[in-house]
Amino acid sequence: MTEAAGDARTPQYQYVLVETDGPVGIVRLNRPKVLNALCRDLIEELADAMTAFDRDEAIRCMVLTGNERAFAAGADIAEMADKGLADVTRDDLLGAWQRLWRIRKPVIAAVSGYCLGGGFELAMGCDIIIAAETAQFGQPEIKIGVIPGAGGTQRLTRVAGKYKAMEAILTGRMIPAREAEAWGLVTRVVPAEECLAEAVRLAHEIAKMPPIAVQMAKAAVLQAYETPLAAGLEYERRLFYSLFATEDQKEGMRAFLEKRAPQWRGR
Ligand code: CAA
Repeated sequence: MTEAAGDARTPQYQYVLVETDGPVGIVRLNRPKVLNALCRDLIEELADAMTAFDRDEAIRCMVLTGNERAFAAGADIAEMADKGLADVTRDDLLGAWQRLWRIRKPVIAAVSGYCLGGGFELAMGCDIIIAAETAQFGQPEIKIGVIPGAGGTQRLTRVAGKYKAMEAILTGRMIPAREAEAWGLVTRVVPAEECLAEAVRLAHEIAKMPPIAVQMAKAAVLQAYETPLAAGLEYERRLFYSLFATEDQKEGMRAFLEKRAPQWRGR
């Protein structure tokens, strides 16, 4: 059952719509007239909404989505066009995006339609990407005289490799969902009408898992991007050991041995 937006757990925002479906927090980008162009206030609101879900013990997993036509067509070009170096540096134009990368609970992107520039970077910053057959990915910044600025040159290259990333970023061409899947850029492709439902279904599946272990699993996988293999393996082993301090580890292992379903307490 979906809770109506606007109560204490789901405050109203101007550019994002927030709702809950049991333990799943759903955030929808909401500037449809401009294909969900990511203005600064939208990113601030998105970070506020996701941080609130991150702190809410009742929420175990999040879904981030747009609409049928666009997940998001990038940063807001109208907002940036007249700015100079001094402006973007002083105002730290993309600074608020850092808040998104600090979310500890899993975030699933449900992507339909255009997923371009900052929109693609936002999706790549999520943990799982469910793409509709209609999804079109791309880093078109080169066509407007800049380069990706919210992670595209780094995340795309790490996932797709130098040669795929280089072509995408130097030409700005759109990459259809099936091609993105072949590049390893999306978790799976589904019919457009099933995209959000599939993301929410998956979020519910993750929400059933022990929450502390889920957060540590996310942290461990993300560490694979940050460190050389030996340091990543060490980090993973230490997180693994630390889970033996949780009640959920005792419960999970005992339940297995006693052939019953575990009762997670998040402790
Ligand atoms: N910023 C601001 N407005 C945007 C926008 C953006 N990124 N993308 C689309 N819009 C607006 C259009 O200006 C248009 O507004 P009006 O109706 O007021 O004219 C409206 O959304 C609908 O767009 P189109 O008429 O262009 O729709 P289309 O179907 O003809 O084309 C599109 C769709 C190919 C996605 C095209 O809109 C487009 O190329 N958008 C820009 C994509 C882009 O360059 N993104 C990168 C931005 S820079 C960035 O993201 C930097 C970073 O790394 C953080």
